[in-house]
Amino acid sequence: MKQALTLPKLKAMKAQDKPIAVLTAYDYPSAMLAEEAGVDLILVGDSLGNVVLGYDTTVPVKLEDMIYHTRAVVRGAPRTMVVTDMPFATYRLGPEATLRNAAKIMQEGGGHAVKLEGGEELSEEIRLLTSAGIPVLGHLGLTPQSVLQIGGYRVQGKTDEEAEKLLRDAKALERAGAFGIVLELVTEELAAAVTQSIDIPTIGIGAGRGCDGQVLVFHDILRYGSGIRDKKMVKSYANIGDTIRTAITEYVDEVKTKAFPEEKHSFPSSQSSAQTLTTQLYGGEGK
Ligand code: KIV
Repeated sequence: MKQALTLPKLKAMKAQDKPIAVLTAYDYPSAMLAEEAGVDLILVGDSLGNVVLGYDTTVPVKLEDMIYHTRAVVRGAPRTMVVTDMPFATYRLGPEATLRNAAKIMQEGGGHAVKLEGGEELSEEIRLLTSAGIPVLGHLGLTPQSVLQIGGYRVQGKTDEEAEKLLRDAKALERAGAFGIVLELVTEELAAAVTQSIDIPTIGIGAGRGCDGQVLVFHDILRYGSGIRDKKMVKSYANIGDTIRTAITEYVDEVKTKAFPEEKHSFPSSQSSAQTLTTQLYGGEGK
């Protein structure tokens, strides 16, 4: 029977050049399907703000939202490593507040680790969390929680300064004890250079072919939802949005035309109780 990945095994996958497959999931059925399909690690991303809750950014997502969704994911994928995003600002109020919030996520959500967006400036927080037994996944490059500050979703690391800072940040996260780093929307060359200069795995999204693993958003790879737009970094493997819409349209149509339910979907009562019911309703012969 499959066992959840451990941190030493994850590190060994990098050393042995075995690619790491990561997918986001936000609820019981999506987690169950991801586990059945052999995903190595499930990320309960705060992208749930966009794809599940309908916000424009991840900023409005709350600690309680992450805990609620992590619990459902853990129930659906009990044999898979589950990482929960710490939402906006919940790890920017100092190390103690960060530890309190991360501990709440771990205890109430039931996942195996947390993810934080940011670089060197989070070293103290990461050290405190890992010393308290909370595994931490870093996240560099495009950090969606800072999108209002950055001013949009654009590829990171294109200038020498940006590239040097990102490399410095990656090394700082490794030193502080992070077990891996998500690299989002980073040039392929820089992501490969970062991957080669640290011993912990990099998980890329829009970061090219040189990372140790890849992560994509559940709703993007399945085109699940009406608002899913084409993004260069995404490959869609199915179009369940169209399948679902067609099925629901057919259902609505069948209800309106009385094609559903049919006799086979109905529960006839026994002959004698049908007689009793008719007598009670119509007093004797029935209509
Ligand atoms: O929130 C999220 O889903 C993420 C991934 C896109 C890496 O952070």
